Amino acid sequence: MSRPLVLITAPVPDNLRDQLDKHYATLDLPADACLATAVEPRQAKHVCGILCMATTPVNEQVLAHFPQLRVVSNFAVGFDNIDIDAATKRRILVCNTPGVLDAAVADLTIGLIISLSRDLVRGDAYVRDGSWEQAGPPPLTADIRGKTLGLLGMGRIGREVARLAQAFNMPVLYHNRSPDHEADASGLAQYCSRDTLFAQADFLSVHVPLTPQTRSSIGEHEFSLMKPSAYLVNTGRGAVINETALVTALRTGQIAGAGLDVMAQEPLPASHPFCKLPNVILQAHVGSATVETRHAMITLATHNLLDALGNNRPQAMVNPHLLDSDAPSAQSETP
Ligand code: GLV
Repeated sequence: MSRPLVLITAPVPDNLRDQLDKHYATLDLPADACLATAVEPRQAKHVCGILCMATTPVNEQVLAHFPQLRVVSNFAVGFDNIDIDAATKRRILVCNTPGVLDAAVADLTIGLIISLSRDLVRGDAYVRDGSWEQAGPPPLTADIRGKTLGLLGMGRIGREVARLAQAFNMPVLYHNRSPDHEADASGLAQYCSRDTLFAQADFLSVHVPLTPQTRSSIGEHEFSLMKPSAYLVNTGRGAVINETALVTALRTGQIAGAGLDVMAQEPLPASHPFCKLPNVILQAHVGSATVETRHAMITLATHNLLDALGNNRPQAMVNPHLLDSDAPSAQSETP
């Protein structure tokens, strides 16, 4: 009889791989693989788990291809690559990696804010290309102290950014689906309406997940509210922003600039208009990409998968109610 099979599209280090190998056969596939076509039906029927990158699509077609699938463990906190409703209907547990990457993503967010206000990327070029020698000191830049930070989304990462901003004496406003009363009461940040947030922020940082409701939800209207001196920072998901509207806002000076770690299309083609704009700082989706943080993430993702398959409660689940409800399995409801 074949061993149950785990599909892997994430980088699993040897010590964790040994733990998987004790109980399961494994099959490594590329991060962007179409799992439904990459695994032939003969093997597909043995697949009990998927340990995947946030770039691996896990849609209805994929879920339907693996009749014994019990868990999809994402090597990411975001899970917009997975059809959660379809997984839940099939009683497939979905796990993610919240918590362990908050500090790294918040650090990068503050790094982008400082890089924008102090013009660090152009400053580097100014020295290297001899402009300093030829033209003297570069133009003055701006303090971040006292400038208002606006956080769209006040989850774990938003709160961590607010905490770091306190070191720079930045007043923090936020907008969230529901107010974070603790943040307001402790003085960490002040809740405001969405329009007020865009109108008052000197730095507007995006920390909402990508959902059908948030997709392309920051566009012409939001940029029209922003100050011409304000910067947009995004370390969440690129598709939350209407990028065509952002390019126009950046080209016309409607806003001062942007720091983007994420884009709607990744990897971003070098021919993209963002790459031609001098007031944009780009990163290659590296918010959590430190050795320590990625290690913590893959450890959590692997343990989530092993726990789910071993009938233990995983530390982090997207649809935990599956374990708490005794509702009949959606699979058995399927005609
Ligand atoms: C990274 O983008 C993540 O969602 O963890």
